[in-house]
Amino acid sequence: MPPSGPFPPFLRAKLTASSMSGTQVAVAAAVAGVGAYALYLRKSASANATDKPSLASFGFHSLRLHSTELVSHNVKRLRFELPNSTQPSGLSLTSALLTISIPAGRWLPVLRPYTPVNSLDETGFVELMVKHYPGGKQSSHLHSLKPGDRLTVAPIKELSWTPNKHPHVALIAGGAGITPMYQLTQGILNNPEDKTRITLVWGVNTDSEIFLAEQFGALQKKFPDRFKAIYVVATPESSSPHPKGFITKQILEDAGLSASSEKNKDIKVLVCGPPPMEKALKGAKSKPGVLTELGYSPAQIYSF
Ligand SMILES: Cc1cc2nc3c(=O)[nH]c(=O)nc-3n(C[C@H](O)[C@H](O)[C@H](O)COP(=O)(O)OP(=O)(O)OC[C@H]3O[C@@H](n4cnc5c(N)ncnc54)[C@H](O)[C@@H]3O)c2cc1C
Ligand SMILES: *[C@@H]1O[C@H](CO)[C@@H](O)[C@H](O)[C@H]1NC(C)=O
Repeated sequence: MPPSGPFPPFLRAKLTASSMSGTQVAVAAAVAGVGAYALYLRKSASANATDKPSLASFGFHSLRLHSTELVSHNVKRLRFELPNSTQPSGLSLTSALLTISIPAGRWLPVLRPYTPVNSLDETGFVELMVKHYPGGKQSSHLHSLKPGDRLTVAPIKELSWTPNKHPHVALIAGGAGITPMYQLTQGILNNPEDKTRITLVWGVNTDSEIFLAEQFGALQKKFPDRFKAIYVVATPESSSPHPKGFITKQILEDAGLSASSEKNKDIKVLVCGPPPMEKALKGAKSKPGVLTELGYSPAQIYSF
């Protein structure tokens, strides 16, 4: 999509990039639909309760922070109140929230997507897990929020999930890129109609960054035939039970994710991670990526 309309410069730069991820497209649509200047004007609009699912409508919503919890040395869980405590968020599988803030002393708003991690059916609350990057504009802002503070968010649709469209889905995540995968895993496994099998491969820097291990462990116990999770740790502790290094072709083959095997030909591969990881998986102009080497076609791969 060519850039048009009043995009702030940083978004314009993103929009001219030849290949946009699903999220970049969704962010562009959200901004194009409303206009960048409206972000300033409607900052605190729609704080009123309604009798509809709270975040189902397009546009901006102001949410009150209910509570926070530090879940690892640099990850915080932020629990926000929805306008109507008896209604769920109304977000569809899969969705993110585009968060907007104007840091002190700046002209342009900072827009970053974060992925709700509580069940999308839960009424009254929406929860984010945010990893703090030193010097990161939005993650620092979010980590500084106190209960009672407000945050402006706009729902954005990510990959629209259709139950049973694929027999098997491979989720490959790096670091905080795990959150869309967690939302999808819960959505699939908690839907009795959906029989999709899931293989998750999550790359992290250290053992302590596997901040959803407990939640994934519970799902593995409950769905041992349908859900498998593998953690790959770049610099593991000596006692770590996990494979060491990055997510390589060998790791994915060992996880049963080679596309050349007949049973994997209808598999869908979803990727969310830092740019170097996505590049290694999806390849660059000069170099085919690990997923190409494994036999996946571009149509089988989706990037959040
Ligand atoms: C679809 C989608 C969903 C996301 N969901 C979540 C989520 O649920 N939780 C979450 O914590 N994040 C999530 N992110 C990432 C998030 O949107 C921000 O990119 C991140 O919080 C950094 O923003 P910032 O403004 O703090 O950092 P910036 O000010 O943009 O960057 C400051 C510095 O931080 C470092 N940095 C920033 N991002 C990364 C990165 N990804 N990897 C390594 N270093 C980095 C870089 O050195 C950079 O120079 C998601 C991203 C996408 C695309
Ligand atoms: C919340 O939703 C319920 C159910 O739809 C509705 O009856 C109620 O009036 C709503 N509350 C507010 C404060 O809007």
